[in-house]
Amino acid sequence: MSEPGLNSRENWGSRLGVILAVSGSAVGLGNFLRFPVQAAANGGGAFMIPYFLAFLLLGIPLAWVEWTIGRYGGHHGHGSAPGIYHILTGRKKWAKYLGVTALLGPITIFFYYCYIEGWTLAYAIFSLTGKFNGITNPEQMTGFLAGFQGVESNSFFSSIWSAYTAFLFVFLINFYFIYRGVTKGIEKLNKIALPIMFVIGITLLIRVMTLDPHPDHPGQNFLNGLGFMWNPDFSILKDASVWLAAAGQMFFTLSVGMGSIMAYASYLRAKDDVALSSLTANSTNEFFEVVLAGTIVIPATFIFFGAMGTQAVAQGGSFNLGFITMPLIFNQMGGGAFIGFLWFLLLFTAGVTSSVSLIQPMVAFLEDELKWDRKQSVLVIGAVGFCVTNFIIFTLAKGSMDELDFWAGTLFPVFNAFLAVALFAWFFGIKKGFRELDKGADLKVPRFFKFVITFVTPTALLAILVTWSIQQGIPVLTLANVPPENRVVVWITRLILLAVLIVIVTAIIAARRRGRFSLTEEEIR
Ligand code: PFF
Repeated sequence: MSEPGLNSRENWGSRLGVILAVSGSAVGLGNFLRFPVQAAANGGGAFMIPYFLAFLLLGIPLAWVEWTIGRYGGHHGHGSAPGIYHILTGRKKWAKYLGVTALLGPITIFFYYCYIEGWTLAYAIFSLTGKFNGITNPEQMTGFLAGFQGVESNSFFSSIWSAYTAFLFVFLINFYFIYRGVTKGIEKLNKIALPIMFVIGITLLIRVMTLDPHPDHPGQNFLNGLGFMWNPDFSILKDASVWLAAAGQMFFTLSVGMGSIMAYASYLRAKDDVALSSLTANSTNEFFEVVLAGTIVIPATFIFFGAMGTQAVAQGGSFNLGFITMPLIFNQMGGGAFIGFLWFLLLFTAGVTSSVSLIQPMVAFLEDELKWDRKQSVLVIGAVGFCVTNFIIFTLAKGSMDELDFWAGTLFPVFNAFLAVALFAWFFGIKKGFRELDKGADLKVPRFFKFVITFVTPTALLAILVTWSIQQGIPVLTLANVPPENRVVVWITRLILLAVLIVIVTAIIAARRRGRFSLTEEEIR
């Protein structure tokens, strides 16, 4: 066997680089918009109990599994789920097809995530230029957002251009970094972006901590805001949906179950540490999520809107929080234009470092299995992505984004995570798996996790899968909650998803025919 790391695939430039890249993937819009809403709506401090259990029993073990099988796959010339599963099962014929949703999922999320990323960029500029300066009530701000998104049909083409321009810019930026490659593109981006995010996060934290209480309601102050966010309501833990919400948040925020971590880890050298690096990236994510976002967003909302108002915001969802409530807060805050700019710049930066990781699995697949070069891969993914994202942009109000989010952002990750952990523990074998995890490790993972990964994590995932399928899957499949006038768009959305899935399966078959899955280790190198 030739020396590890001498194959034709790229390698990360440094250990810090890969940790920052995985952290950059994890820290995203989910941390700053999704987490505060989930926590505030699901019992405040009490939410932290299922949340930390999900971190310990799902997030941390899954990340270890994905880092380990990613590095192992990369060493055998495969950086995406089909190839990794193939190698992991000792080249079982069927295994590569199980990897389809771990390719389809991330690229589908990218198609809509990049559009929202565009909103954050546009809102950063709007904050500086004072575009929504004079707006003081939620109704007007909602109207502003609807106009910006072009969802008010009467003014569609006159109002959507700024959102569309921002999308074009964001789309190009993402593919630019991907085109530059793992070290010169992704690693470099994250080495710059994460420190920026840290500095902005701390600045916003200090600004919120030093906010004066509301002039008319002195009880609406920072400390009571923290209390609103964190005081536990334990009675809520009886409710299964709170546990599901905690698990869902954990998946989304850590980027597990997507294929992104596997792809990133495939560019490690054979003896690079995964145990401690994975834990470091996860901890970085939790710092941004719990410490920074948990202290900034809801307490600020509480100071300006009080308990009732904040409750309503938490019920209103992540987009309302980010694009309606937060701009209103900045409009009333001293130095608000600049603080608002920083906030949206933070969202934008966090968004880009996440979205590039959503493209990389597909790039790895095309490069490794079809032997395309980077340019060809980027052009084809870019062209398909451009068409699909345009479809989403122009059918936003008809529910295309929600539909894609259900499949790619909710269902597939749990399914993918189950497959990854089951193949690792049951097919590859937990003993061999831990030997692989221990290779080059700077941290000895407690053996207790052998038990967790073999039994607890897969059981919990299966339970989530079944409960979700029953609770959400059936109404979604039968379009129970979709208004009749939106049904055509939802069906077209599903057909698009199915078409991309068929293309992926066809590509796997083509790769197999060319013998890409039956190469010996020497031939791969
Ligand atoms: N973790 C990102 C967030 O919290 O916004 C979202 C995400 C990025 C999920 C990349 C999955 C992924 F592969």
